[in-house]
Amino acid sequence: MLIELMENWKAYCTAENFIGIGSTRKAFRVKGYVLKVNIHPLGYQQSKNEFVIYKTMKEIGLTELFAEIYMVDELLSIQKYYHPLEMENNQTYEIDMQAHRKLIPERYKETLDLLDTKFDSFDLKDSSNYGLNAKGKLTFIDYGMSKSLYEAEWVPLAKAGILPQIHFDYCKVCGIEKELRMYGENDSDKRCYSCGKE
Ligand SMILES: Nc1ncnc2c1ncn2[C@@H]1O[C@H](COP(=O)(O)OP(=O)(O)O)[C@@H](O)[C@H]1O
Ligand SMILES: [Mg+2]
Ligand SMILES: [Zn+2]
Repeated sequence: MLIELMENWKAYCTAENFIGIGSTRKAFRVKGYVLKVNIHPLGYQQSKNEFVIYKTMKEIGLTELFAEIYMVDELLSIQKYYHPLEMENNQTYEIDMQAHRKLIPERYKETLDLLDTKFDSFDLKDSSNYGLNAKGKLTFIDYGMSKSLYEAEWVPLAKAGILPQIHFDYCKVCGIEKELRMYGENDSDKRCYSCGKE
């Protein structure tokens, strides 16, 4: 299956397989795999960082906390699929060691410290960056953004309206309060992704 996906990945990027979109990558699920297709070059930077982190964590026995990565190239990366976390009131939330203790994997604190000090990782506690593994424990699925990449690249692109920022608001089409993708200060298109806004 993996070889088939690497060779014919485009054929699997369909509406039925679509599972999620961030500001720089769009994800499709095929059985136990996720195709993470770059929608902006910054997505490739993040996927490359993820691969470096993944390989390093493998060497020190912390690989269980990270989505397994099978390949990365300029167009996409292929990861293992992890179950999504439930949202709280339709929103992502900050992981709390106490409140979410049932979800916390072993060696979590140590891993966070390492990501912070060795990889300059950004925004490690937001629930949107995790899936759940077979044991129901938190597993990083989006872990390639560094603080320096965020400040030097992401913020200017978001300010310029090139990359979307996520805002929690009512969609003017379906009326549901959810995460909207907003492009810069002058973007007045308050529709959600399901209602047609990319
Ligand atoms: N390994 C994975 N398993 C399950 N879902 C995933 C995985 N990777 C990404 N996703 C889904 O795709 C979305 C976008 O991927 P993400 O890595 O967050 O992209 P971005 O870096 O643009 O934020 C995620 O929010 C999540 O819903
Ligand atoms: Mg994301
Ligand atoms: Zn909507």
